[in-house]
Amino acid sequence: MRKLSKLQQALALAATSIAAVAAVGVVAGQATAAPPPTDMGPQVVGGTRAAQGEFPWMVRLSMGCGGAMYADDLVLTAAHCVDSTGNNTGITATYGAVDLQDANRVTRTSKYVYRNPGYSTSTGGDWALIQLSSPITGAAKLPIATTTAYDSGTFTIAGWGAASEGGAQERYLLKAEVPFVSDTSCKTAYPSMKTAVEICAGFTQGGTDTCQGDSGGPMFRRDNNNAWVQVGIVSYGRGCARPNYPGVYAEVSALSSAIAAKAAELGHPPTSTTNPQGTVFENTNDVQIPDNAGAVTSDIAVTGVTGNAPATLKVDVNIVHTYRGDLVIDLVAPDGSAYRLKNSSTSDSADNVIATYTVNASSEAANGTWKLKVQDTYAQDVGYINSWKLTF
Ligand code: ARG
Repeated sequence: MRKLSKLQQALALAATSIAAVAAVGVVAGQATAAPPPTDMGPQVVGGTRAAQGEFPWMVRLSMGCGGAMYADDLVLTAAHCVDSTGNNTGITATYGAVDLQDANRVTRTSKYVYRNPGYSTSTGGDWALIQLSSPITGAAKLPIATTTAYDSGTFTIAGWGAASEGGAQERYLLKAEVPFVSDTSCKTAYPSMKTAVEICAGFTQGGTDTCQGDSGGPMFRRDNNNAWVQVGIVSYGRGCARPNYPGVYAEVSALSSAIAAKAAELGHPPTSTTNPQGTVFENTNDVQIPDNAGAVTSDIAVTGVTGNAPATLKVDVNIVHTYRGDLVIDLVAPDGSAYRLKNSSTSDSADNVIATYTVNASSEAANGTWKLKVQDTYAQDVGYINSWKLTF
């Protein structure tokens, strides 16, 4: 029964493909010169044209690979797409256009390449970062999966690679959807597949797949907040779209901390969210702080922020008090972890706490109820939480 529904999905995809080709007219490359497939045979990637702006972070690399924008000047791609780590001005990245000949496309040359030193065909870990000579300011970025939560379901693949096994490269970006394939099942096709760092996707009957020239490009899906998240990097496969040979992708969730660490070294905080920087949540209700007693809290409910909180979560605190040295202040994340913002101090007799604290909250889910927890630990002076706010 499952196979049947997958087949139906595939037929639906094929039908979409036919419709798109008919409507748009021409998809460059030899695949479209041939009549559309009716038998889901092995010679078809099974994609349709992506709309301009649909996957804005997609990048085409001049060595014939794909990639995804990770930061304004970093492209995440496959290790097997680059030769080695080091300064490299030989790669051109094309961004911002589904048509590689679009007059409005944005191009940058590379300046540095980092190739995962642990990568080999026998170990997996097929990722690399390409640093651009200058940033594409405000570029769309594709956040990478940092947990295995999204390593299942249906994935989207996209690229300018061949639309058929052995076919030419494409001028227009193609996209398709492929279902997750379990490690166990993938191992039947590829006995040496590295289950810890690789993830497979494709239909049992084939017909839809990435292919030569798609390497390095992302495999992605929607996360729980309906934002795109990258789960794979196109790595390898036997031929393209053959029955029983799914595509194999570097498993981003397993590699994300190494990718993020290298990106941080290259000057970038991890792209944990797609949120515009600076989403602000504030609570202006006054909360009295009892003298020399238990802590009080003030809540901020955060919703609609994708992924984790930033490494530079800003906490603005405005407390009216007649002796601020009495106060111990914590920020409490939705899961209950506390971050100390301020300790008490018998010698700090100044009034009020009007301060901005920066908290590395990158291990905390952003959405949920955050608390400012304040305790007055000495007798006499009193005050109240006037307002506080969080900037993501
Ligand atoms: N290694 C190929 C490349 O360099 C990508 C292969 C993907 N193949 C597949 N059947 N999914 O472009």
